[in-house]
Amino acid sequence: MAPGCQLLSNSSVASANSQELVLNQDTTLHSPSLSGACKIITSQMTSSPDRKLIIAIDGPAGAGKSTIAARLARKLGYVNLESGAMYRALALKAIARDVSFDDERALAELASDSRILLEPTRRGNRVLLDGHDVTDRVRETDVTEGASRVSVHPKVREWMVARQREMGMGGGVVMEGRDIGTKVFPDADVKVFLDADPVVREKRRLQQQNVRGPAAEATAAELRERDRRDRTRAQSPLAAAPDALVLDSTGLSEDQVLKRVEEVVEQKLGH
Ligand code: DC
Repeated sequence: MAPGCQLLSNSSVASANSQELVLNQDTTLHSPSLSGACKIITSQMTSSPDRKLIIAIDGPAGAGKSTIAARLARKLGYVNLESGAMYRALALKAIARDVSFDDERALAELASDSRILLEPTRRGNRVLLDGHDVTDRVRETDVTEGASRVSVHPKVREWMVARQREMGMGGGVVMEGRDIGTKVFPDADVKVFLDADPVVREKRRLQQQNVRGPAAEATAAELRERDRRDRTRAQSPLAAAPDALVLDSTGLSEDQVLKRVEEVVEQKLGH
């Protein structure tokens, strides 16, 4: 299998020919094809007559993307892919190899030499970097900051976008991130841009991470800086696609947000 190629599904398999990937429930298996791009066949994997959509959910940290994407994927029987986890995994590798977050060439080389796997599980994506489970480690502060910094580089983004397209092109995916509707899948069937008031997002993030006291201000400041970087970088800055459903979740419950997104999905499926 080509380095960096990611195979994943939480759906059951019907069949696969020699060029296709063989996937099982919550399992990562290997492609019979050792070279070239991965061909993900999630669209052909279930017996459901429904067309398998590509659903893009973008937005800043703390807007509720992950929860909504996970719940939506579960309801539809789709795969939920957290694209940010891939940037996080690369940042972690850069830390381990002492590669500067500012060295675009070295980071791009590091990426193309890496195997970053996302395995959907009930508790979110399990993240494997070169065979090691780094799921918890990539959520730590230094990696979070590093992910935002490595993501500004065009060559890094090129590699990430190519891998993400390979993973999602067969449909049956809810992919969340910053540029899914604008860059990775500009023709996605459903695009949602989930936003919320910055103060509310900060509060949610602090609650999620259980941060209190003096550490809270530092965490909030980091979130603001990451936001600024994600929104102002030259390549694929965080922005809503013109045809995205823009949802401000500030005054909405999780259920209300999910319902709005489901309505758009239902429309697309013609239900
Ligand atoms: O979604 P997250 O917080 O795990 O993302 C971590 C960083 O990765 C985020 O600060 C910006 C970057 N990212 C990106 O540039 N494009 C994506 N599609 C997803 C994440």
